[in-house]
Amino acid sequence: MPKADTQDLELLVIPGDGIGREVTDQACRIAEWFIGRGMRLSLRRIAFGLEVWERHGCLMTAETLAAIRASRAILFGAIGGDAYDDIPLDIVRSQGLLRIRKELDLYANLRPVRTWPSLEPICPLVPALARGVDLLIVRELADGLYYGEPRGISTDADGARTGINTMRYSEASIRRIVRAALEVAATRSGRLTSVDKSNVLETSQLWRRVMLEEAAARPEVAVAHMLVDNCALQLMRRPGQFDVIVTENLFGDILSDEAGAITGSLGMLPSASLRFGGKAAGRQGLYEPVHGSAPDIAGRGIANPLGAILSLALAFRFSLDAPQAADLLEAAVEAALADGARTIDIMHAGGRQVDCNGMGDAVLAALDILAPATSGRG
Ligand code: NAI
Ligand code: MG
Repeated sequence: MPKADTQDLELLVIPGDGIGREVTDQACRIAEWFIGRGMRLSLRRIAFGLEVWERHGCLMTAETLAAIRASRAILFGAIGGDAYDDIPLDIVRSQGLLRIRKELDLYANLRPVRTWPSLEPICPLVPALARGVDLLIVRELADGLYYGEPRGISTDADGARTGINTMRYSEASIRRIVRAALEVAATRSGRLTSVDKSNVLETSQLWRRVMLEEAAARPEVAVAHMLVDNCALQLMRRPGQFDVIVTENLFGDILSDEAGAITGSLGMLPSASLRFGGKAAGRQGLYEPVHGSAPDIAGRGIANPLGAILSLALAFRFSLDAPQAADLLEAAVEAALADGARTIDIMHAGGRQVDCNGMGDAVLAALDILAPATSGRG
């Protein structure tokens, strides 16, 4: 890696646990390819998660937190694993991934979901429904059920236990996420589906009112409202009807995994977590594959790194002022798949089986073909 100077942007790499380490290694190889082609970027790897817990009794050190605060873009792998069963939940909450998201107030989680022509055979939907799907889920990430108080498990005098979580949404939290979604929708097809459960939940009724107010100020975006249970159905029935979907934290978590099935594997899905407002270029962001630490396959070198690699492309686009590099990298992923490279999770699409590193090789080879060294791109 070339030595950083003061003009280099820094990508903070937090591999974390399980396959997070394997997939971010491949994304780093790709980042280094771009650096080799002249991109002004330096990589800084930082420890987080179980390895820190074993050494220091915490999930992240003060130094890590300071680095996170100061970063422009973070590439995160995953957190999780069986060992977390022995770590108190309040420590995981206050030092884990939710803390990073909250610390940086990254309230808008963008989860693009698209179909890849080469992976059509593994899409559970018939090709006519899946072909050309290209949608974006905008998930509220800093409020709602995952953060609401009171929470906990209480035991009454008779020893009967009750679990409590609170779904709470302030008007301000709703307003900023629906504004972000309207902004994003205006740059795409101008169609936005707002997903809620306003037939049952007060938080959703407030959501819908604020959505209507904000939509009135953005007449160029056509806003439709849909109940979350119907949305879950419609994503499988006719995903092509959606362009941008905006929804609250819990619904977005669940719907985006479901939508991931359309892609063929959870391992294909990238995400970006951002704060909106101000100018679009150079926003601070956290970039991570949608999948978790996958303890069932961790350490075997067989994970699909494309979710992490596509997350790097989103970092190029949204935080690192390199939209052309993002386009090039996405084209290289498409070319690697078209050339038949398949990790085991997408192997049933037919092709040549590769391991995690082999998929990194395939994307690098595609980059070399799409942008030969003499062209000086990056
Ligand atoms: P998971 O996403 O880790 O795995 C679900 C299934 O998909 C597993 O069978 C896994 O092998 C497979 N899979 C996931 N990513 C893959 C990839 N890149 N290539 C090939 N196969 C892949 O979700 P799970 O099993 O529910 O959770 C495991 C741990 O991860 C838990 O501790 C959970 O808390 C944590 N987790 C962390 C997340 C994060 O760091 N953002 C998100 C989701 C879960
Ligand atoms: Mg999830």
